[in-house]
Amino acid sequence: MTKKIHDPAPPAIARSDFARDFLWGCATSSYQIEGGVRAGGRGDSIWDRFCEQPGAIRDGSSGAVACDHYHRWPEDLDLGRDLGLNAYRFSIAWPRIFPEPGARPNPQGLDFYSRLVDGMLERGLQPWLTLYHWDLPQHLQERGGWNERDTVHAFAEFADVVSAHLGDRVKHWITHNEPWCTAIHGHFEGVHAPGVKDFRTALQVAHHVLLSHGLALPAIRANVPDAQAGIALSLHPLSAASDRPEDIAACVRHDGLRNRWFLDPLHGRGYPADILERCAADAPAVLAGDLEAIAAPTDFLGVNYYFPEIIAHAPGAAPLEARVVAREDVARTAFGWEVAPDGLGALIRRIEADYDCAPIYITENGSTWDDVVGADGQIDDHQRRDYLVRHLAALRDTIAQGSRVKGYFAWSLLDNFEWAEGYTRRFGLTHVDFATQQRRLKRSGQWYRAFLKLEPQQG
Ligand code: NOJ
Repeated sequence: MTKKIHDPAPPAIARSDFARDFLWGCATSSYQIEGGVRAGGRGDSIWDRFCEQPGAIRDGSSGAVACDHYHRWPEDLDLGRDLGLNAYRFSIAWPRIFPEPGARPNPQGLDFYSRLVDGMLERGLQPWLTLYHWDLPQHLQERGGWNERDTVHAFAEFADVVSAHLGDRVKHWITHNEPWCTAIHGHFEGVHAPGVKDFRTALQVAHHVLLSHGLALPAIRANVPDAQAGIALSLHPLSAASDRPEDIAACVRHDGLRNRWFLDPLHGRGYPADILERCAADAPAVLAGDLEAIAAPTDFLGVNYYFPEIIAHAPGAAPLEARVVAREDVARTAFGWEVAPDGLGALIRRIEADYDCAPIYITENGSTWDDVVGADGQIDDHQRRDYLVRHLAALRDTIAQGSRVKGYFAWSLLDNFEWAEGYTRRFGLTHVDFATQQRRLKRSGQWYRAFLKLEPQQG
């Protein structure tokens, strides 16, 4: 039974419940926080263009300024240090490194990230670098983007250049963030850049993204012999809406695309046969050697966890005749996402039971609420704090049962540009006033800071 976040007594939890070498981080991504889209020789990304489309972004905004992190990064890294983090997850804007087709890498882009990495190390933050968090250079999109196999090779080159430049200081590498979103939000639902709506394209894109992960790994390892490398997947614990065989079968199908489509090939099993069979007309072109490349060993699995899903049979619904149904009487965030800390444990145990996987890091977990700045300037986001407490307690309990989870990154250090939702959804432990760029630690952030001080805290 899912616990409601408004239960009077959130669990007691202390940092000392976790291993001493457990990683405590926050995560961000380039397009969501940097702004500075014209600075340092950056080229356009697919998100710059997508945001120009009327109606694409809920508040008509874009990441053009965002948190202005491009200019304010020292202050932001100070926030991470002051929270007591020992790790920080960020991403590289590919169009800062390769702003134009066929050009040499842009030294200003490389220098920016070099300074940023130095800034992390100076503050005791272990850099966790994500190569792709959705901001594809527009010039690659104009040549077909992730639907084209050439983009796979362009990504391997990008990985080579960035790892050659930063690998002396960055040891933790995440190739891709949430390939499901790149493929499905971006190329089937069309709600993310580049706004394509075609299932066949989406499956081809998923394959190319996974292949590019596989081809980037040897480049990273060649440049950084002591690299720890992996991928961050958005994964969901699923359950059938009823005991009816149709709902159970629909849930298996939904799992086939949501979770197994990515976990299976990464673990050497190729694409799930049940989905390939059902979607034969849309199956991706897979060349000899692709599946071997995708299954290259990794050092960790990044898991982004937000919410579980309940699945019912939906006759005629493309592409899998499955739909998500809303469970009643559960706590939900302002996004409508079910608050289900138990789902985190269930998800981890399922992954570990079904796959011979590398140690897990929770590379994202967080929640959005309608934050209010009080007259005293405080943001009393007790719901976000409770969400954090309950998910960490679930994580602790799962580890106590034997799960190999080595770190946790809260999403996010800062309120930021939440993709199609623009600035209407805040996920930060730090509040950002987007008119003044003032940063203010919310109550949830204050809780995290106290928790990280090795003092036992009550939620
Ligand atoms: C996952 C994505 O990686 C991140 O960019 C996004 O902001 C969060 N989920 C919240 O939706």
